[in-house]
Amino acid sequence: MSFIVAIDGPAGTGKGTMASRLSKKYNLVNIDTGATYRCVTLEMMNQNIGMDEEEKIAEMLKSIQIELSTEKGKQKVFLNGQDVTDKIRSKEVSANVSPVSSIKQVRVAMAGLQRKMAQGKDVIMEGRDIGTVIFPNADVKIYLNANVEVRAKRRVKQNEEKGIEMSYEEVLENIKKRDKNDMEKEMGALKVAEDAVVIDGSEMTIKEVEKAISNVIDKKLKEKKEQEKIEKENTTEFKPIENTEEAKTNKSDVLVIFGIL
Ligand code: DC
Repeated sequence: MSFIVAIDGPAGTGKGTMASRLSKKYNLVNIDTGATYRCVTLEMMNQNIGMDEEEKIAEMLKSIQIELSTEKGKQKVFLNGQDVTDKIRSKEVSANVSPVSSIKQVRVAMAGLQRKMAQGKDVIMEGRDIGTVIFPNADVKIYLNANVEVRAKRRVKQNEEKGIEMSYEEVLENIKKRDKNDMEKEMGALKVAEDAVVIDGSEMTIKEVEKAISNVIDKKLKEKKEQEKIEKENTTEFKPIENTEEAKTNKSDVLVIFGIL
């Protein structure tokens, strides 16, 4: 039985950092679903495919190959065999990815791919619709939020580290636009799953957020262990009904009752 942790929330709340840290802590496969939409966006740009060219998009989706792997603790993304780990974070891809992720056939294809990536594994998946659409029965659902200014500041810092030049204002605008688009899309819109634990990390350190999520995971793992123990006990105690003392007693009870009747 697989164990699924879903982390949803808007851009720049630290979902990626959390997924990476927690995947190591709990030995879970880390699946960054945003990277799959970024790969599709990059491939559309490479092939010069417009947002409304449905047939070309369908053709491209049939053959696209996206692989996520972890090398020396770092996530790597491969698009049709090429390492695009950095390319998919470029300014151009970031500006186009939200509209691309609103295209229905793209969502259907990526949903299939993401479920396949997780099949039979213990995973931590971050995205927008993991707890609502991709895995509505996920064991743990976290909705990680933070106010938009804090998120923009963090993204500027991340960009600097990656050598991407974008001003704070530009990043803030980009995030606001993406939030709106992500929340309003017809399919797979960003929203809080009914049974998700909401964490607002605006005023929290990375360690504090990690602790808060860990507490939810630990609780669920404990519950699962107890459940498995009960199921195991029930299985080991199983004996064919006719051979148990209880069955013999019950048999005579039944006879007595019939006798009275
Ligand atoms: O997490 P990110 O910033 O890399 O995501 C890129 C875009 O992909 C984002 O604008 C929303 C979209 N996305 C989505 O629609 N559903 C997901 N499960 C993950 C990302």
